[in-house]
Amino acid sequence: MKNGLEDVVAAETQLSHVNGEAGQLIIRGVSLDRLVEYARFEDVVTLLFKGLLGHVAGTVELGRRLGQKRAEVFTHVLAIDDALLQLPPVDIMRALMARLPDGDDLDTALLLLAAPAVFLPAVLRLKRGQAPVAPTPALSHAADILAMLGAAMPNSREVAALDAYLVTISDHGLNASTFASRVVASTKAGLTSSVLAAISALKGPLHGGAPGPVLDMLDAIGSAENAQTWLVQALDHGERLMGFGHRVYRVRDPRADALKAALQQLAAGDLAYRDRIQLAEAVEQSALSILKVRKPDRPLDVNVEFYTALLLDALRFPRDAFTGVFAIGRMVGWLAHAREQALEGRLIRPRSHYVGPLPQQAA
Ligand code: ACO
Repeated sequence: MKNGLEDVVAAETQLSHVNGEAGQLIIRGVSLDRLVEYARFEDVVTLLFKGLLGHVAGTVELGRRLGQKRAEVFTHVLAIDDALLQLPPVDIMRALMARLPDGDDLDTALLLLAAPAVFLPAVLRLKRGQAPVAPTPALSHAADILAMLGAAMPNSREVAALDAYLVTISDHGLNASTFASRVVASTKAGLTSSVLAAISALKGPLHGGAPGPVLDMLDAIGSAENAQTWLVQALDHGERLMGFGHRVYRVRDPRADALKAALQQLAAGDLAYRDRIQLAEAVEQSALSILKVRKPDRPLDVNVEFYTALLLDALRFPRDAFTGVFAIGRMVGWLAHAREQALEGRLIRPRSHYVGPLPQQAA
């Protein structure tokens, strides 16, 4: 048995490849560093859906249809009541998505893609006592998310930063949430069921729940001089350093650099944020040198969540919403994998090794 299925190959995919030794991510034939340079979220959706989810004429047409779906999803915002609003944002999002019809076609996929992008800003505004802002279908997905969040038109730097984030996290091999999506899809249950399983897997702190705690850690450390002592104490208490380590990468997660570059562009000229980046860099350096000494046999480097935390914070998402923003971007990967599994894969049904008691033999 391989505990945690480490290194077990459980699917063939044409969607993405994570090379953990080289620190490379390929999304449908395109290296992440190239993709993040030119692509917007709509381009990546077109790339990942191609051949799996109906016929998409091109990015412009896809963007138009996705905008219409955002408007359609907005009617479901009325279902948010006071009891639901008490839950964390990602749980509310999941509850609202569970009301959407199941299906396996492009129409269902676009509805599911639109859903978290509309629900999350609405939930965040309602939690602050503000009325939700209706989507503007003509805007790009990233621009509309920011507009729904803040009501004012976002500037082009903010839109580019969110686009870079959504592209960077769009797909990533057989991570826990994508695997969950594929398991459900392998039963032919439908896309809505598949992505609900994925959201549930995502929210744990060992997966998509890490960036909020990353920010908590940076706040608690406070200054570069404090980093070493704070990190050593945390490890002495048996804690894991959030934003570090990965099941597959043995070197730096390439998404960390993509997000750091996006953050630097977004924050150019903002002195407060320059200080924050400098603190993060100091914490990163301290953590890497401490982890190297403490875990000499297990290379532990920065993962995607470290700079996610800073980027989403700079875009004014509250930290309890970070996992929800992750779900907005990863939804495309979950959908494409679910469809690929349903079309080409078999029912996923591994076996377990029984180590419990045996029935008593009759005397
Ligand atoms: N801080 C301290 N020690 C760590 C860390 C960390 N961040 N990550 C791994 N280790 C240690 C473990 O304690 C373990 O040591 P041991 O063998 O002495 O017990 C060893 O490294 C191996 O750890 P595993 O749990 O076997 O590694 P796994 O591949 O299962 O874990 C994971 C990967 C869950 C991401 C882990 O590195 C971790 O918990 N990181 C912190 C949380 C985090 O950043 N999550 C986001 C991941 S990225 C994403 O999913 C989008």
